[in-house]
Amino acid sequence: MRVLLLLPTATYRAPDFVAAAAALGVEVVVGSERAQALAGAMGDRALVVPLSDPGAAADAIEAFHRRSPVAAVVAVDEQGVVAAATASERLGLRRNPPAAVAATRDKAAMRVAMGAAGLVQPPHRLVGPGDDTAAAAEAVGLPCVVKATSLSGSRGVIRADTAADAVTVAARVRAIAAAAGSPHDAPVVVEAFVPGVEVAVEALLRGGRLHVLATFDKPDPLDGPYFQETIYVTPSRHPAPVLADLHDTVGGATAAIGLVEGPVHAEARITPADEVVMIEVAARSIGGLCARTLRFGAGISLEEVILRHALDLPLDDAGREVAATGVLMVPIPRSGTLRRVDGIDAAEAVPGVAGVEITILDGRPVRALPEGDRYLGFVFARGDDPAEVEASLRAAHAALDVVIDEP
Ligand SMILES: Nc1ncnc2c1ncn2[C@@H]1O[C@H](COP(=O)(O)OP(=O)(O)OP(=O)(O)O)[C@@H](O)[C@H]1O
Ligand SMILES: [Mg+2]
Repeated sequence: MRVLLLLPTATYRAPDFVAAAAALGVEVVVGSERAQALAGAMGDRALVVPLSDPGAAADAIEAFHRRSPVAAVVAVDEQGVVAAATASERLGLRRNPPAAVAATRDKAAMRVAMGAAGLVQPPHRLVGPGDDTAAAAEAVGLPCVVKATSLSGSRGVIRADTAADAVTVAARVRAIAAAAGSPHDAPVVVEAFVPGVEVAVEALLRGGRLHVLATFDKPDPLDGPYFQETIYVTPSRHPAPVLADLHDTVGGATAAIGLVEGPVHAEARITPADEVVMIEVAARSIGGLCARTLRFGAGISLEEVILRHALDLPLDDAGREVAATGVLMVPIPRSGTLRRVDGIDAAEAVPGVAGVEITILDGRPVRALPEGDRYLGFVFARGDDPAEVEASLRAAHAALDVVIDEP
């Protein structure tokens, strides 16, 4: 049995998916944008797939499949999800409708779909370059959040507190989107800032039914102006009725968008009045190396759960382990050149810390949010309860000393 993994150039996820396939005894074929050199060396185990052009990607995958059939096409990360769905539809493999997946990659289309289904979400406007940003900000209510329609990792997401501020911020968001390859006339989304705490839901859709795999609390306040993700801890400390409402809302959101199969990573806010407000839904699993915090059933990884589902292999007991676990996405404190990270040994020695992985090499340029799109690294922790895990992650972070030179 063979699986085609679509690997974006900058993904963190390749080794964990390859390891999961190996654990299952499944052969891997790698599809990536710049695989020419690799493809020659790897024969029928690698092919070039233009991930940003789903039609052309599906052509390339279909041609490959005729020579060398694959049982599933799995995008390991956000950039390949539409290509995977489009190709899987052509080949008759388990998949989401490509249009539904495309809607998850367009923050404006996603708001339209969720709004049509009556889900609670912030008032929002789509603002083109010639439109009146100040009026849109006033209309949705201040403070507001301005975001690019198709970036991820909180890149190009900025809070604005006044209408004048929104105009300046929108120009900055447009520049970030253009630098990332979006068309120059791409609109931005302006939406009301939702106060409250944020949670993330990791789930698997099977035949249209949402199976929640884990719910993470994000205990650091995410109030802007930039929305740097830091700590994720599971299980959530919110009361059961709030979590039930959250899981129902995420199920409603996936149904509204039209997703039916495969991994889901959803973000929502819980307001001070315990109302669940959807931020967004992605048709992929959690990013970075964060999935390493999760273990299911007899100890299988999230990647293995995803591959089992895609390949229609047995997946009976996908319950998460009992321990509390968490991850710190180590933020890049400012832009410049990374000299070194001190204190790694001290961070690793913090009780409860299970590992520290710095993913940027010394001497490399680093960019902070809102322009940046990488983390400095990841700290993993485990414990008896979520508060203990959170404390371990904070102590490890405090032990790290990130030395960055001016650009
Ligand atoms: N309307 C809002 N109100 C409050 N905070 C918001 C709002 N929209 C976005 N945010 C904050 O900004 C973060 C990033 O926004 P969003 O999830 O829309 O973009 P993203 O870049 O796709 O995210 P990801 O990091 O999941 O890839 C959210 O997780 C949230 O903390
Ligand atoms: Mg998000």
